[in-house]
Amino acid sequence: MNYKNAFIDVLYDQLKDHLDKSKLNSMIEKPKYDNMGDLAFPCFELAKIFRKPPHDIALELTKEITLPNIFQNVEAVNGYVNVFLNKEEASSLIVNKVISNKEKYGDINIGNKEVITIDFSSPNIAKPFSMGHLRSTVIGNALALISEKVGYRSIRINHLGDWGTQFGKLIVAYKMWGDEQKVKENPIKELLKLYVRFHDEAEQDEKLNDQGRQWFKKLEDGDEEALELWRWFRDESLQEFSKIYELLGVNFDSTQGEAFYNDKMDSVVQLLEEKNLLEESDGAKVVDIEDDFPPCLIKKRDGTTLYATRDLAAAIYRQDTYKFVKSLYIVGNEQTLHFKQLFLVLDKMGYKWHEGLKHVSFGMMLKDGRKMSTRKGKVVLLEDVLNDAINLAKNNIVEKNPTLASKENVARQVGTGAVIFHDLKNYRLNDIEFSLEDMLRFEGETGPYVQYTYARASSILSKGDYQESKEKVNITDVEAWTIIIKLNEFPDAIKRAYEGNDPTQIAKYVLEIAKAFNKYYGSVRILDDHDQKQARLSIVHSVQIVIEEGLRLLGIEAPDEM
Ligand code: ARG
Repeated sequence: MNYKNAFIDVLYDQLKDHLDKSKLNSMIEKPKYDNMGDLAFPCFELAKIFRKPPHDIALELTKEITLPNIFQNVEAVNGYVNVFLNKEEASSLIVNKVISNKEKYGDINIGNKEVITIDFSSPNIAKPFSMGHLRSTVIGNALALISEKVGYRSIRINHLGDWGTQFGKLIVAYKMWGDEQKVKENPIKELLKLYVRFHDEAEQDEKLNDQGRQWFKKLEDGDEEALELWRWFRDESLQEFSKIYELLGVNFDSTQGEAFYNDKMDSVVQLLEEKNLLEESDGAKVVDIEDDFPPCLIKKRDGTTLYATRDLAAAIYRQDTYKFVKSLYIVGNEQTLHFKQLFLVLDKMGYKWHEGLKHVSFGMMLKDGRKMSTRKGKVVLLEDVLNDAINLAKNNIVEKNPTLASKENVARQVGTGAVIFHDLKNYRLNDIEFSLEDMLRFEGETGPYVQYTYARASSILSKGDYQESKEKVNITDVEAWTIIIKLNEFPDAIKRAYEGNDPTQIAKYVLEIAKAFNKYYGSVRILDDHDQKQARLSIVHSVQIVIEEGLRLLGIEAPDEM
């Protein structure tokens, strides 16, 4: 419920000759102290118009306005008109609104069903799924869910890194040292080993790199042997990746990776040519951008294409196919220059829609202060990391509840929820420290803490024999007020998350409401028999609805019991 609007309406009634509603909206403040009311309207600007001291104006307004039910009192204080909410009335209205809308509470229509494409996850074939890809997956998935919540249609695209010179190198390495059986047993580990060995040996033997380039050229030219190996590497990798997506509960509308654009690049190069944007540089073809940026490389000397060429083709293809109004790329901040170049080239090509493109970048995942990388030969597989989290969740949390059914599934929900929440509670541009122990703590700002609060709410509702009703309940608890205010703020948190591409807004929100709820639970006897019981349970129910939906928007499940 927007009680600010109610206040705007009454002020507008009195002041419409001087101020419009959006001006009023921008003027209304929150009083410094709670005991001064819930909203305040300053009369200082009006003093110039009416040629009267601000406090006199405040006094007059206070006398003239007719308060709607939602407010119980109005006062003039030091040149402000302060209104006090009728907390019982407001509480009842807000709780009723949450309960009658359920998971649709907080839906806002900003998007009008228009399309946002979200390019996220996008791991590289034949390489391990890295921490950076995990961050991209988790942030991108949340942003897709959030854009849908505000009325967009999201198209989730996994722009697989399945094309490029590295596949030429991998083919050469496999043909020289590869063992089919071993690759089948352990595709990512084996392929990475081959790739690493290739790089080691190429340091001694420059010819290897040439061979790698030649095989990539063959691949781009459609050579059957090259294609067959490539397809096999790709399939094996995808199978590995899909285990991770399954654990996380993430899916895609398209897994058209870089290779998909192989036959779409000629026309892009031709377009660039026609628009007179291509220049020769050392035998290669580049687009010159601006003084402060290096030129964007489009075609190498040997005629093969690059990451940027494929991204150009992809952007144009996506605009043609989906007619997106916005297009997000969830990629680490080490690719900032790449995306600046890409967007500037599209601008130079005259595509107005380039304005809808946005690189949503993020910081690194650190372990003991250092970048978590796949060191030579020694691979940390992300699937193992997730399984560690799930096992820890099982031992530390789930196993401690002897009556719990479906332990495996709850352990998965809690383990992955912990990893996801840990990522999303940190503002995406910050680097974050990876610590499974911290993520899985019950106390403090963790996923399990929020999930546990949800489970507690569910259990109170079933113990209390809660009767859901569409009728307005009468809430008289003052202790509940912090919760009520939070419930009312959910749509704002969603809006902020959408506008800033910032799921952290929702992570913080669910933490705050969980804290407020646990405090309330500690100070009020909800389940004792008294005339407040159904009203209190309806607050519990609202909290349960909002936490479940908040977690859902982050890509986290909420088990009823844990
Ligand atoms: N595969 C790339 C990498 O791992 C990320 C791709 C991001 N998406 C894009 N359209 N460039 O670095």
